[in-house]
Amino acid sequence: MAQKNRDAGPAARQILDMNAFDAAAGMGAASPSLKRRIANVGAAAVLFYREPIEVVSARGSWMTAADGKRYLDFYNNVPSVGHSHPRVVADVTDQIARLNINTRYLNSVVDRYLDALKAKFPDALSNVVLSCSGSEANDLAVRIAATASGGTGIIVTENAYHGNTSIISDISPSALKRRGLPDHVVTVAAPAHAGQRNSIENAFAAHIERAIAELERRGHKFSAFICDSIFSSDGVYADPPGFLRKAIDTVHKAGGLYIADEVQPGFARTGDAFWGFARHDVMPDVVTMGKPMGNGFPMAGLATRPELLARFCEETGYFSTFGGNPVAAAAGMAVLEVIAEERLQDNALEKGAHIKARLKDLATKDDRIADVRGAGLFLGIELCRPGHAAEPDPELASGAINGLKDRGVMIGAAGRFGNTLKVRPPLSLSEEEADIFVDRLADTLSGIPAS
Ligand SMILES: Cc1ncc(COP(=O)(O)O)c(C=O)c1O
Repeated sequence: MAQKNRDAGPAARQILDMNAFDAAAGMGAASPSLKRRIANVGAAAVLFYREPIEVVSARGSWMTAADGKRYLDFYNNVPSVGHSHPRVVADVTDQIARLNINTRYLNSVVDRYLDALKAKFPDALSNVVLSCSGSEANDLAVRIAATASGGTGIIVTENAYHGNTSIISDISPSALKRRGLPDHVVTVAAPAHAGQRNSIENAFAAHIERAIAELERRGHKFSAFICDSIFSSDGVYADPPGFLRKAIDTVHKAGGLYIADEVQPGFARTGDAFWGFARHDVMPDVVTMGKPMGNGFPMAGLATRPELLARFCEETGYFSTFGGNPVAAAAGMAVLEVIAEERLQDNALEKGAHIKARLKDLATKDDRIADVRGAGLFLGIELCRPGHAAEPDPELASGAINGLKDRGVMIGAAGRFGNTLKVRPPLSLSEEEADIFVDRLADTLSGIPAS
């Protein structure tokens, strides 16, 4: 937990610790359900909120707790076509009653999905490998990059989170607590939100160039640059579109691979494009995806060029028992069809613009809102000390998260200091729901005295 120390400024926080229940602070008046969870999971429990919520059901943009209270879900980007979407539920139910088996057999449900998913990528990325988690997808991506480049040097952003395997924890600064990054991993600052397009583009490319030189100085051959295309755990940096171009040129000129982690921004959330990297008009060597892919059914995967995958498979056998099974394929197909049929990419653009405009208006009246940024229905609201945009206020963010919880809205935080609220509602959000969020946020902030 970050300590309050105004003079020294706030401490950096791990993404999983932000607004989490802190068992070490004591169980106090913990409910029987909370005690049972902590007794079962121990130190690996990562419950949200100082007083965790017990949820029992969800539909559309709303979740219902055991005590009957309803919450507007502005946090979870997994059920992105809406919680318990009837089409996903029906297709998964139908398929699990028919056949569920691993991918060592031909099956038209799986191959139809692979065709549909591939159609969402640039032609060059014509091989798709399905897995069960974003971590696994990133793990494979990093290993593909190692065989292709002959090196192990990785560049990540300074607050990145890419998953939980051994290889991937090592490249996830936001997951590391006491131990530091290994020698073969170098970080770059996330792209800043201020300034002109050219300066962000040039500054970010210059950071990458320095990081490549640093890897060389340490004796590690450069293998890959991996980034979340909307830099979510770094604090949500989306604009201006195209600012990644020069950095990716630099990566390619140095012989490295560019891995686009689309686990958070993928599947139409940014509104402008189906993938976050497409907003920047750059060409990844590997794209990884997960979270919204099955609307809650655990599925993930990557897309890459056939020769890169072939090179990896020459050296190492690769198979996933559950990855890409027919039930996952049915869930994934339903998600793709619902996004298209309900025009959810357009809705993300439209409702995102509406929320952004209303938040920017709120910022003119409340000088603790330092910035509102992002794309589509993936926005960041940066909170600061009154009138001091450069002084992050994570305690205000915590107050807002808990105040919104009291008012029936779920939201989380991101950024190095945890002072940026992450706005990620289902893509099916209505204007009425968008307004409920902004109204309740305004009410919450007005109830927190400026300090
Ligand atoms: C950007 C990003 N990449 C990868 C992952 C890992 O995905 P999973 O938890 O499915 O392993 C996450 C999870 O939060 C993520 O935010």
